[in-house]
Amino acid sequence: MTVKIITIDGPSGSGKGTLAAKLAAHYQFHLLDSGALYRLLGLSLHKQGLLEEIDSHLDHCAEIATNLDIQFVTTPNETQILLDGEDVTQTIRTERVGEFASKVAAIPVLRTALFERQRAFAQAPGLVADGRDMATSIFPEAPAKIYLTASAQSRAERRVKQLQGMGLDVKINDILANIEARDKRDMEREVAPLRPAADALIIDSSELNIDEVFNLMTQYIDKQLAK
Ligand code: DC
Repeated sequence: MTVKIITIDGPSGSGKGTLAAKLAAHYQFHLLDSGALYRLLGLSLHKQGLLEEIDSHLDHCAEIATNLDIQFVTTPNETQILLDGEDVTQTIRTERVGEFASKVAAIPVLRTALFERQRAFAQAPGLVADGRDMATSIFPEAPAKIYLTASAQSRAERRVKQLQGMGLDVKINDILANIEARDKRDMEREVAPLRPAADALIIDSSELNIDEVFNLMTQYIDKQLAK
C-alpha cells in the first residue's frame, strides 16, 4: 500500500501548524512537525554546551542529531514531546529555542542527519508533513503539495494576539521586525531555502480564516489523492 503524503510548507505564522494538525485529524494520517525536530536538536545541543561550538564538532553534533532520543506522545487533546524522557513540550516553543533551531537548521550536515528521521514518519495510511522543505527536499514524491503563506503584517498581527492572549505585553513593530528577519534568513540560506515547489498549490491566508483555508486545502488534496 502506498503511503499518501501531504506536504505543507511556508513561513512561520502562516497557520501551517494548526492546519497540518487539522488535516491529519481529518484524514486520520500521521503528522510530522519537522520544525519541532530542529527545535529539539537545538535544545539538545544547547544543553550539552555544543550550540556555540557546532562548527568545531560537526561529526559529533551530526551523531547527536541522528540518535536524538525523542518521543511524541499523542493523547486526544495534545501531543507531548519528550527529549531524553523529559517533557519539553512548552520549552521548545519559546523564542529562545526558536533561535537555537534556526541556527542548527542552517547547517547542511545537521539537515542531512535529520533526513532519514523525517522520512521514517511516512507510514500507512498517510502523512501530513509540516515544515519549510517538505516538498522540495524531504518528500518530493508527495502527490499533494501546499505552500501556505501570508503577509508579514498579518502574521505579526496574529502573533501579537496569541502573545497577548498569554498575558504578554508585546509591540507589533518588534514582532514584525522579528518575522521579517526570520523570513529573510529562511529564504536566503544556501541549504534548503524556503520556497514553493514548482508543482505546489500556493495559498495566501492573509485575508482568509482557518476554515476557509482548510476547505481550499481539502478540495485540492481530495483531487490529488484520487489521481
Ligand atoms: O516551524 P518552526 O518555527 O518550528 O521552525 C523552527 C526553525 O526550524 C525555523 O528557523 C525554520 C527551521 N525549519 C527548517 O529549516 N526546516 C524545516 N523543515 C522546519 C523548520
